[in-house]
Amino acid sequence: MSAEDPPPAAHRTTEDRSDAGEDAAALAYPNIALVKYWGKRDERLVLPWTSSLSMTLDTFPTTTRVRLTPRHRQDTVTLNGKPLDGEPLRRVVAFLDLVRETSGRPARAVVESHNTVPTGAGLASSASGFAALATAACAAYGLHLDARALSRLARRGSGSAARSVFGAFAVWHAARTGHQDPDLDSFAEPVPVRLDVLDPALVIAVVDPRPKPVSSREAMQHTVNTSPLFRAWMASSRADLVEMRAALHGCDLDAVGEIAERNALGMHAVMLAARPAVRYLSPASLTVLDAVLELRRDGVSAWATMDAGPNVKVLCHRAEAGRVAGVVRAAVTADSVHVAGPGPGARLLGDSS
Ligand code: PMV
Repeated sequence: MSAEDPPPAAHRTTEDRSDAGEDAAALAYPNIALVKYWGKRDERLVLPWTSSLSMTLDTFPTTTRVRLTPRHRQDTVTLNGKPLDGEPLRRVVAFLDLVRETSGRPARAVVESHNTVPTGAGLASSASGFAALATAACAAYGLHLDARALSRLARRGSGSAARSVFGAFAVWHAARTGHQDPDLDSFAEPVPVRLDVLDPALVIAVVDPRPKPVSSREAMQHTVNTSPLFRAWMASSRADLVEMRAALHGCDLDAVGEIAERNALGMHAVMLAARPAVRYLSPASLTVLDAVLELRRDGVSAWATMDAGPNVKVLCHRAEAGRVAGVVRAAVTADSVHVAGPGPGARLLGDSS
């Protein structure tokens, strides 16, 4: 037994028992934005400049267990069995501090998280990670939040996590300018889409599973601060969102794909114009983009999107996902190619004790 382990139950005081043993586990899936979030107007509250819209996937879930340990003086966090340290640990502890402040319970916690997606490679591991952490931590600390409030909380861990609270398609609202409490006004909510008609899939080409050299947090702030294209990006992304909602409402996959691809390229353009440039795309990413163009020339509805990393996700009809995956696999020596459909929102897992 280490110095920080609690004494056996028989030796615990009533006070120990009152807040010991709170234990919860949750599961959340990553989401891929079709209209991207790139740039914060408030770093502390994680408020974006523009609203974004995404599809939550049915692959690569994160499961996270949070156990309160009132006798510990520090939080312990492991990811895939390895202890976190440095900036990743600081982010999780800051998030738990927020949960402690909101719940009024000061207990430290042991957090065990398991990611099935490569971490930090632009495959939205922070979205599933913080959505699962928010869901599990709320249950462990006895915070009863509705889905909107949970989404606002997850946002504080990682902006895109606000959207993974919900399944399928979700929009994350930037707070309206002039709103008296922008924190309350920035949350995600579901976008109703007839999935049987739209029939969407994302073919994920993992061309490089290594963690990105620059975090999205750092890169987006650098873009806001130095890219002369930032204003133009905001204006075009806002227009894209309006068109995207109409395209989803009309179940028009070609329109959805066209808007998603141009929005992603616009996001990479605004960061390429930053000084110095932020470049996440690699030659392999461009090869996949060429393959996607070729597929379209052959009459296949296939459209690409890329996040803060070189990996490419190709939106297509589920019925054609096998063909798209084959073409992408042949084009690059992709480490792996996966097919994802729309997945569920974050949820608590059964009793984990
Ligand atoms: O939530 P973050 O800090 O991981 O930022 C995500 C940014 C993008 O994935 C590039 C775009 C998005 O909207 O998810």
